[in-house]
Amino acid sequence: MEIEAPDDVGRHADRLVFGDNDRAPDQLICGDALEVAARVPDGALDAIYIDPPFGTGIVRQGRGHRYADRADDPDAFVAWLSPVLEHSRRTLAEHGSLFVHLDYRAVHYVKVALDRLFGRARFVNEIVWCYAVGGKSRRGFGRKHDTILWYAKGDDWAFYPDAVRVPRRGGSHMRVVTDGGAAVQEKTDKKTGRVYRYPVAAGKVPEDWWADIETLNHSDKERTGWPSQKPGRLIERILRAVTEPGDRVADWFAGSGTTAAVAQRLARGFVAVDRERAAIGLVRARLAAQGRALAKAGAAPPAIVIWR
Ligand SMILES: C[S@@+](CC[C@H](N)C(=O)[O-])C[C@H]1O[C@@H](n2cnc3c(N)ncnc32)[C@H](O)[C@@H]1O
Repeated sequence: MEIEAPDDVGRHADRLVFGDNDRAPDQLICGDALEVAARVPDGALDAIYIDPPFGTGIVRQGRGHRYADRADDPDAFVAWLSPVLEHSRRTLAEHGSLFVHLDYRAVHYVKVALDRLFGRARFVNEIVWCYAVGGKSRRGFGRKHDTILWYAKGDDWAFYPDAVRVPRRGGSHMRVVTDGGAAVQEKTDKKTGRVYRYPVAAGKVPEDWWADIETLNHSDKERTGWPSQKPGRLIERILRAVTEPGDRVADWFAGSGTTAAVAQRLARGFVAVDRERAAIGLVRARLAAQGRALAKAGAAPPAIVIWR
């Protein structure tokens, strides 16, 4: 179900109001990241994922859709992004986390800004997302990863490792044996002789480099045509790691709405913002289609307020 916010309200409301319960409406907002973030109450969010535009200074072209990227000037980029990061920190709950998705051109500049803002002790992980699809380099190694910086607002951040376990792959140093009928991987420490056993079925908590999620290729079913669309599985791992059903997440640079779509599917509430009307139209259609499928399966999502 959608609730249309009146035309001028999105621009003039000085506060976004959220209900307390997990059926409170979700918010899809056409607007500027900073303007919207500034209207979100303190501590209202459990997690924020952002994938801000950076790098080429040119128009990013997808299939039928485009948006203007930021110029390739890292200092100007950090100056522009910093107030958004400040509001991100303010709007997180004490146990909340911010994830900032960047590539090799900007990550080191933004990391310094985030260290200053959150404190170095609140830096949790530099997640290296590796993929194979894309061009090759003749003058160096192919640039085949992005970086996602994870910062926590407080000392006691939420983390649900059991929600993100992945299958264990046996290394040459691992034997698979059975123990009480269950497959177990076994490793012996050569120095101490100590034997370590890990149940195969339980899987393992991923390390900080993720090479098991491929970037979307041109014919991928998930593809919406919006440039720089990220795979749902990537955002799913992040949201499962730090939130529970009923929590609320935000994405100030929503693009095709991957964060919102994953949040809706995982029964998390969301605030999704993009300044391009075309993006909002696309996210709206994506959420409506998924919402119908969820309702059919008996898990109807909350209403969505659409601010234009
Ligand atoms: C890299 S894309 C995000 C892609 C998204 N993660 C996805 O999976 O589709 C960045 C987005 O930021 C939006 N954007 C750029 N400047 C903005 C601003 N000042 N406020 C809100 N959105 C902005 C662009 O329209 C673009 O859709």
